[in-house]
Amino acid sequence: AAWERRAARALIALEGVDRAGKSTQGRRLVEALRAEGTRRPHLLFPADRTTEIGQLISSYLVREKNLEDHTIHLLFSANRWEHVPMMKEKLHQGVTIVVDRYAFSGVAFTSAKGNFCLDWCKQPDVGLPKPDLILFLQLSPEAAAERGNFGRERYETSSFQEKVLQSFYCLMEDKTLNWKKVDASKSIEDLHREIKSLAEETMQEVQNKPLGELWK
Ligand code: ADP
Ligand code: TYD
Ligand code: MG
Repeated sequence: AAWERRAARALIALEGVDRAGKSTQGRRLVEALRAEGTRRPHLLFPADRTTEIGQLISSYLVREKNLEDHTIHLLFSANRWEHVPMMKEKLHQGVTIVVDRYAFSGVAFTSAKGNFCLDWCKQPDVGLPKPDLILFLQLSPEAAAERGNFGRERYETSSFQEKVLQSFYCLMEDKTLNWKKVDASKSIEDLHREIKSLAEETMQEVQNKPLGELWK
């Protein structure tokens, strides 16, 4: 079993509304997998704000900089693409990668602005490494609101988040992707156990399967 675990690799994406617990669960999952001997599981944040593109995105999110809506969409996508060579290399080496948001957030947030068709929003991310599992952390807007007030970043308003949620539901209708909805109102510990078991199941299933291409 130990050998099987070492050989397994998977690309696992965490998605969901703001404050659903994506970052908390991403950290917990990677720690747990590491503790059980999975080789160097890797946590990735696209929006990774450390690269040059990421810094542009960050200054947009904190409202230091205004960017035209198509432009910021393409920058988020570029921020994912700049990580692809590293992701492919790691997956090839058998390293599991957990991403805290992925192309689905990209599409959901831009299409929530209106005047964007879903198809245009998807195009820049077509061909990205396809997640073997997409965990959707589902939480009602009311429950999310109880977890603290919105900060001052762009997109942090209830009316916009509601539109984002509707876009996520459209994306979840795509049955060629392995969406798993989880109840994010559970305790951190219970949710962690459920997510860990779904992740481990996926890592077993994807052994030796080639990496897919998203929306292709
Ligand atoms: P996200 O990355 O989805 O925005 P975070 O992981 O940053 O969410 O969590 C947002 C806030 O909610 C944090 O204060 C965190 O401690 C808290 N939190 C996370 N998961 C839970 C949970 N299952 N129950 C209650 N509070 C939670
Ligand atoms: P993130 O730091 O993951 O937010 P949080 O932890 O608060 O849930 O993401 C920052 C913001 O960027 C968030 O409002 C969602 C938005 N976003 C996009 O608009 N497009 C994208 O492609 C991504 C990855 C994030
Ligand atoms: Mg987060």
